[in-house]
Amino acid sequence: MDYGYSKRLQSFDVIVIGAGAAGLMCAMEAGKRGRRVVVLEHNAEPGRKILISGGGRCNFTNRECRPENYICSNPHFHKSALARYTESDFIALVEKHGIPYHHKTLGQLFCDRSARDIVDMLLGECASAEVDIVLGCRISEVRKSTEFVVETSRGPFSSQALVVACGGHSIPKIGATSFGYDLARQFGLQIAPTRPALVPLTWKAADATLWSDLAGIAAEAIVATDSQQFREKLLFTHRGLSGPAILQISSYWTPPVRVHIDLLPGAPIESVLEARGNRTLKNTLADFLPKRLAERWLEHQRLEDLHDWSVEPGGTEGYAKAEVTAGGVHPDELSSKTMESRKVAGLYFIGEVVDVTGHLGGYNFQWAWSSGWAAGQAV
Ligand code: FDA
Repeated sequence: MDYGYSKRLQSFDVIVIGAGAAGLMCAMEAGKRGRRVVVLEHNAEPGRKILISGGGRCNFTNRECRPENYICSNPHFHKSALARYTESDFIALVEKHGIPYHHKTLGQLFCDRSARDIVDMLLGECASAEVDIVLGCRISEVRKSTEFVVETSRGPFSSQALVVACGGHSIPKIGATSFGYDLARQFGLQIAPTRPALVPLTWKAADATLWSDLAGIAAEAIVATDSQQFREKLLFTHRGLSGPAILQISSYWTPPVRVHIDLLPGAPIESVLEARGNRTLKNTLADFLPKRLAERWLEHQRLEDLHDWSVEPGGTEGYAKAEVTAGGVHPDELSSKTMESRKVAGLYFIGEVVDVTGHLGGYNFQWAWSSGWAAGQAV
């Protein structure tokens, strides 16, 4: 169909806003049920965030998705969708399409070749289900009378059901907008406050002076706040700390909370002292930590604090670097089974725009697939 500008109202059963992970999953499922579906996407290509995910290989799910791997204002909300469309369901789809993949670590599954395989798979499923995808489509207004009407640069579209799948604030340079949150507010829905998550943390000025030239050094660590801890790699950067352990804890961090870092997990200080023999402490510690970090530590910190380095981050690298946005459309506003608004019949929210944030490791895509699938069965 030609979607050059048309004044004529283009009528569908379902409009999905956003051709990302959740939107494409919802569209193909609704299309398979015989619904006439159109996806409106303002970028010139679909699935741009999928393409850059997982270092270009898309960590598309995790073999062990559990409700505890998600942060949500209601800790029960996401259970239903995740149980109805599971990681095994998505793996079966990937296998049906013959996409080669591998397990990396901690249950994380990645494409062998490229994230493009996942986008092509979703587009292939949408094409078989006769879903229309309109790219380069700028939306100027959404209103509801008996139906939803969406005014766009490609003319007006109308539908019985409107699915908002336009993601969060993260990475504006590839098309993230506040559109989903704005639309939720327009229809009177409550939003849990949003913040960057899975994001590097930055130093306060005094810490930057001490540590920033260690950029590039990595170490295994346990990183904790009062409520959570993660044992993974930590990475020093010019501006602060990153690496999987820090990204994970960042989702739980709000200022002025301190982050507690154990740089010697599993190695009590006594074992360092025992290993010392006649050597200098600096040389001994270098058996346990990268040498430059060991040296710097002993210049400025006490040995015994290696198990509890208490850091007060200056902030985060913000939405420009955040993998996801925490917060979003409040779970009290939505049916956990269908993702439909409790206040506005026919209005659905799926994926990252909803207040469900996964840990690092494929959990966020699984939420996109599961919530997209749930809405796809209902619209
Ligand atoms: P998504 O962002 O995928 O899609 C939203 C779509 O809506 C986009 O196509 C956007 O252009 C469009 N849109 C926005 N505003 C619009 C408007 N006003 N009008 C029309 N269209 C509009 N997760 C994971 O599980 N494993 C991983 O490996 C990674 N890796 C990763 C790397 C990087 C660099 C980032 C930034 C993020 C990840 N993630 C991840 C997170 C994952 O990408 C994210 O959780 C999902 O893409 C969310 O899916 P959605 O469909 O909700 O949004």
